[in-house]
Amino acid sequence: MDNFSLVSFLGLLIVACGVTGSLEYYNAGKVVYENVGILEELESFEIDDAYEVETVDVPSWGSQHSGKVLVNVDSFGAIGDGVSDDTKAFVSAWQTACSTPRAVFLVPPQRRYLVNATRFNGPCADNLVIQIDGTIVAPDEPKNWDPDMPRLWLDFSKLNGVLFQGSGVIDGSGSKWWASSCKKNKTNPCRGAPTALTIDSSSAIKVKGLTIQNSQQMHFVISRSASVRVSNVQVSAPGDSPNTDGIHITASTNVVLQDCKIGTGDDCISIVNDTSGIKMKRIYCGPGHGISIGSLGKDNSTGIVTKVILDTAFLSETTNGIRIKTWQGGSGYVRGVRFENVRMDNVANPIIIDQFYCDSPKSCQNQTSAVQISEIMYRNISGSTKSAKAMKFACSDTVPCSNIVLSNINLEREDGTAETYCNSAQGFGYGFVHPSADCLSSHDKSCTFSDQNEHVASPKTRNEDIVHTEL
Ligand SMILES: *[C@@H]1O[C@H](CO)[C@@H](O)[C@H](O)[C@H]1NC(C)=O
Ligand SMILES: *[C@@H]1O[C@H](CO)[C@@H](O)[C@H](O)[C@H]1NC(C)=O
Ligand SMILES: *[C@@H]1O[C@H](CO)[C@@H](O)[C@H](O)[C@H]1NC(C)=O
Ligand SMILES: *[C@@H]1O[C@H](CO)[C@@H](O)[C@H](O)[C@H]1NC(C)=O
Ligand SMILES: *[C@@H]1O[C@H](CO)[C@@H](O)[C@H](O)[C@H]1NC(C)=O
Ligand SMILES: *[C@@H]1O[C@H](CO)[C@@H](O)[C@H](O)[C@H]1NC(C)=O
Repeated sequence: MDNFSLVSFLGLLIVACGVTGSLEYYNAGKVVYENVGILEELESFEIDDAYEVETVDVPSWGSQHSGKVLVNVDSFGAIGDGVSDDTKAFVSAWQTACSTPRAVFLVPPQRRYLVNATRFNGPCADNLVIQIDGTIVAPDEPKNWDPDMPRLWLDFSKLNGVLFQGSGVIDGSGSKWWASSCKKNKTNPCRGAPTALTIDSSSAIKVKGLTIQNSQQMHFVISRSASVRVSNVQVSAPGDSPNTDGIHITASTNVVLQDCKIGTGDDCISIVNDTSGIKMKRIYCGPGHGISIGSLGKDNSTGIVTKVILDTAFLSETTNGIRIKTWQGGSGYVRGVRFENVRMDNVANPIIIDQFYCDSPKSCQNQTSAVQISEIMYRNISGSTKSAKAMKFACSDTVPCSNIVLSNINLEREDGTAETYCNSAQGFGYGFVHPSADCLSSHDKSCTFSDQNEHVASPKTRNEDIVHTEL
């Protein structure tokens, strides 16, 4: 976009807001001009997904495995009847596979292997392939879970150059865990539950084609890792299963998720602290709480997330679309994010920044510090919104959001009442933006813009916005 169209945009803006004098025209012009560099950066920055993670691809475990050493869990005594405890067999097979160059750790098809919480630690010999074609199932009774691994089920750590693949299923048997969650029944104590699959402290990892389902809590966590490629992974759990995030990324860099279909009871994807260089491509999400950066800043913590791209996604019937959520009292920043080519179907908050996030049974205290949010672009986002607030930028009163950029947005509500809410949010739009987002350039701290330019923000509606408790 050239400076000329920026100026035309500004002209329209002045008419719409009707409060900006000519002096401010120049001031505002300067502000917009300074934005051009940021705009160019936001429009064009890339995550280097061309980088090939070095793993050796095995077409199929049964084919003549060129120099591969097959390590079949059945050869280590696994029964695979879904009832016998196969943990020991998996651990022995892992020890062999991990110490053997070019090994294929094989979970064969058409069987169910019952496996307890287990650590699969590296480092391993070169070119390990983990081929999961059968089903790995977790014991379903929370009372008997290993107290030394309260938050883990299948935990892979310290791996380098490993390929996970197959048409198999990782099934957390989560229903009893869900029933005992404090989100299901307030008399239950709030405590964490295991993550089905964790890849921790690893690098150059590929994950292709697996299905992860019915996890006790989060399905797939990527933590403290670099250069991870996830493709054609499916995640599924009921829409009412508590805290069952699909793919959760923390303290990691250079992660690409593509062609994933995710439906859960929490975020389809969540990206949290100390993470940079994340690309998501061709993602299907629903049911679920949407695709989120955050939550960040809980208990006054620091949260830093930079360089995130979501390109091509379809969200259906989710409670949020593309979301950034932070708790009051945090510090750090979210900077350099581009959400583009997203289609929404009956999504409750299609575009949302929520800096008053409070996922707690108690309401949260107002605080002055906050995670700073800036340089967030939304481009080519369309579809239907379930709630009136198709776009909601609820930013911290003391740490405003800056440089929110909207381009080619078309979000419609059945009854035609879609609107944009802003609190302490600054930015601009160009191209077609519906509902109008003039409130991003308004000098009022808090206002809502429908296409009729009505200010409908009142203390009452504002309170409802702020106390957003996801229970
Ligand atoms: C799996 O967990 C159950 C329940 O805690 C326990 O009885 C069993 O011994 C464990 N299996 C192994 C191989 O550790
Ligand atoms: C919640 O849990 C309590 C104690 O276990 C139980 O008595 C009650 O029936 C449960 N309520 C619901 C709605 O399941
Ligand atoms: C977030 O990451 C930073 C390192 O970048 C670390 O210092 C901080 O403790 C982390 N915060 C949380 C809540 O883990
Ligand atoms: C966070 O900081 C505020 C303000 O300093 C303080 O009142 C509050 O107790 C802190 N919360 C936690 C969990 O440390
Ligand atoms: C806009 O996004 C939709 C949905 O992902 C996509 O089908 C369409 O091709 C995109 N349009 C452009 C101009 O990129
Ligand atoms: C927090 O701030 C909002 C307005 O910014 C106000 O309506 C609300 O009453 C405050 N809550 C508390 C607990 O002070």
